[in-house]
Amino acid sequence: MLFNAIPISVVATALTLTYLASPPTLVTAAPNATPILPCLQAIPAAGGAQLLTPSDKAFPQALLGADYRFTFKPVAIYTPASVDQISKAVRCAAAAGVAVAPRSGGHSYEGYSQGGLSGSLMIDLSKFASVTVDASTNTAVVGPGIRLAPLYYKLWEAGQYVFPGGTCPTVGFGGLTLGGGYGMTGRMFGLALDQVVEMTIVTADGTVDTVSATQNPDLFFALRGAGGGSYGIVTAFKIKLQRVAAKVTSFSYSWDSGKAAQVMAAYSAWGASNPSTKVTTELNWDSSGSVEIDGTYLGPKADIPGLMKVLTDISGAPSDKDVRESTYIDSALRWTWTGETDPSTMQDPVPQDARYMKGSSILYSKPISKATIAVMAKHLAKKPAGATAAYAITDLWGGKVNAVAANATAFARRNNLFGIELVVEWGDYQSAPGKPDCAACLDWIKQFLLDLVAQYRAEYGTQLVPAYQNYIDKNLPDWQHAYYGDNWAKLVAIKGKTDPENVFRFPQSIPVKV
Ligand SMILES: Cc1cc2nc3c(=O)[nH]c(=O)nc-3n(C[C@H](O)[C@H](O)[C@H](O)COP(=O)(O)OP(=O)(O)OC[C@H]3O[C@@H](n4cnc5c(N)ncnc54)[C@H](O)[C@@H]3O)c2cc1C
Ligand SMILES: *[C@@H]1O[C@H](CO)[C@@H](O)[C@H](O)[C@H]1NC(C)=O
Repeated sequence: MLFNAIPISVVATALTLTYLASPPTLVTAAPNATPILPCLQAIPAAGGAQLLTPSDKAFPQALLGADYRFTFKPVAIYTPASVDQISKAVRCAAAAGVAVAPRSGGHSYEGYSQGGLSGSLMIDLSKFASVTVDASTNTAVVGPGIRLAPLYYKLWEAGQYVFPGGTCPTVGFGGLTLGGGYGMTGRMFGLALDQVVEMTIVTADGTVDTVSATQNPDLFFALRGAGGGSYGIVTAFKIKLQRVAAKVTSFSYSWDSGKAAQVMAAYSAWGASNPSTKVTTELNWDSSGSVEIDGTYLGPKADIPGLMKVLTDISGAPSDKDVRESTYIDSALRWTWTGETDPSTMQDPVPQDARYMKGSSILYSKPISKATIAVMAKHLAKKPAGATAAYAITDLWGGKVNAVAANATAFARRNNLFGIELVVEWGDYQSAPGKPDCAACLDWIKQFLLDLVAQYRAEYGTQLVPAYQNYIDKNLPDWQHAYYGDNWAKLVAIKGKTDPENVFRFPQSIPVKV
């Protein structure tokens, strides 16, 4: 669900990118295709819209996402200011045979908002970041380009509203919500995408459509779970807003090194014991040996010892704990890991956490077995050479996430109890992109995943190993079904109807035919 505490740093301003000598290209334009740049240049620049090409000084900075591993080279980066400009740009790309890669917050784990290969048109939605609350219906209209921390802050200021999204402050609302969106109130309110009641989308032919349960219902199904980059550009979301008690509790329990496997077993038993849906937690098992459980409980502090009893009976008392009763926004601020104490600091949408990293995930519908814990212990025994951090985060799923049918939205993974996310990081936080990857780090996470996959298959008696599409991962076997399960064929059919020329494509996009 989130990352280790993030050292505050400022992204370097003068960056030089070294591109691959002959970058792989996603498309070869047909010989008679219209060239894209003159077409883009002809779009009126009203509202401060901006077009950058690789020779522009500002291009390398604009290309940067949260993961410095990626230096795919788009043909251009277009930052539109209106839906009409988006339509025109998409038409330019379609006519030129160029793939379109929308970007909201730039946190794709495989660099897909750069296109995932060179040669795409990146459309940066940072100017679509408005939030308009309608208190009479407890809904808001939100732009895809806003990041999570400023969104939470604005909703809170507008009437103490809560939106169940992720924890990382700089993740984009657009990418998060189109693929799922799991955070510290997930078991109470479900996924971010479960809050969506209507969207506006620009599709491959440049038309602008409303998408809801009654208008374009097929797209309403597909965009909620498989919406990241495959069907069009979502330019606005109408979402339901939630409210919580005036005081909630955020808590952190940690244990001395050496207790990780035992705490993990206790966590599994506790998670399987059907704890209140008012609590959502994650366990962070770090390769340094430390283990910590962090959580939010939408109730008073006095309930925590009873709530955690099944766990502490097995794990033993934590060596350290930090339990705080506060307003909801203070708890959300705590889980941004910025170390700030004033919620108004959440307004600053500047990404401060870019790094080199790779993530992977598996979802579990049963308690985490001793054998799985042994696989974790083996790989977490030490950090791979060259890594700055290597860890596994186990989120407690279930609750309201599982209250929706697996075929009601494109998000097929509705029956899980736990999600295990593997993460490895390398390079310091201010290092510029374009450095060589840490081969030992990439090898570590791949082997870790494949050992968990083998254990899962043996235990569950199936080849299919489910995973979370927002931790999108090229190492995952049969990602098509791992992410989308039985919804796959329907998603492909909807893609074929909506975008038959496959304008919206990247290495793990939904294809036009099976
Ligand atoms: C540091 C970090 C912390 C994270 N924490 C959490 C967490 O707590 N909970 C959780 O659920 N997930 C979490 N994630 C995963 C996150 O949900 C995904 O990485 C998500 O895809 C990021 O969205 P984005 O808008 O920032 O990324 P982007 O890279 O901008 O977009 C991701 C994908 O969606 C597409 N896309 C973006 N905007 C649009 C749009 N408007 N219309 C159509 N397609 C679009 C892009 O083309 C790309 O394929 C985390 C990721 C990172 C890197
Ligand atoms: C969804 O699944 C249920 C249960 O398997 C089934 O009854 C229903 O017809 C399905 N709905 C759709 C739209 O496929």
